[in-house]
Amino acid sequence: ERPFGLKKAAGTLRFVATHPVRLFGDPVLKQRSREVEDLNGSLVGLAETMYETMYEAIGLGLAAPQIGVQRRIFTYDVGEGPHVIINPELVDASGEWVYNEGCLSVPGMHFEIVRPKVVTLRGIGLDGNDLEIEADEVLARLFQHEIDHLDGVLLLDRLEPDERKRALRAIREQDLATVPRSAGPAL
Ligand code: NI
Repeated sequence: ERPFGLKKAAGTLRFVATHPVRLFGDPVLKQRSREVEDLNGSLVGLAETMYETMYEAIGLGLAAPQIGVQRRIFTYDVGEGPHVIINPELVDASGEWVYNEGCLSVPGMHFEIVRPKVVTLRGIGLDGNDLEIEADEVLARLFQHEIDHLDGVLLLDRLEPDERKRALRAIREQDLATVPRSAGPAL
């Protein structure tokens, strides 16, 4: 595994530890993460670590199990600053949308996947307040992708059987840890 990194937190004089992103094959990515029951200050530190890890990996989103923390939390930034969602759930979904989806845990690969176009997410913010967000297209896709991570589901599990077989063969033939980050966003 790559060593832990240290990164200067944006706009501060503090340094925040970043973590290596867990890759396909790591069993932590196949397990369902548990609900957060205790909203306390340690979540602030976790969120900061997740932001820095997400930015360092050049991802739009990051779910806690991707750094080995099995709690239902994800972070994202689709260009409007960092956000964190605790105990997210989808309460509505509609339409269909094709998106060339990538994942930080499956580097270098993108797959055209159809999922609902618009979703409504409920969760809790870092301040403890309830959130409800209606999202479209990329943000809707990100929400679905990150909640999948919290359920132990990877984008490979969303492929048709033949395409999944081809993808798994391609992964077996390469060392994911050495695959360069592909162009295009990863969730
Ligand atoms: Ni992902």
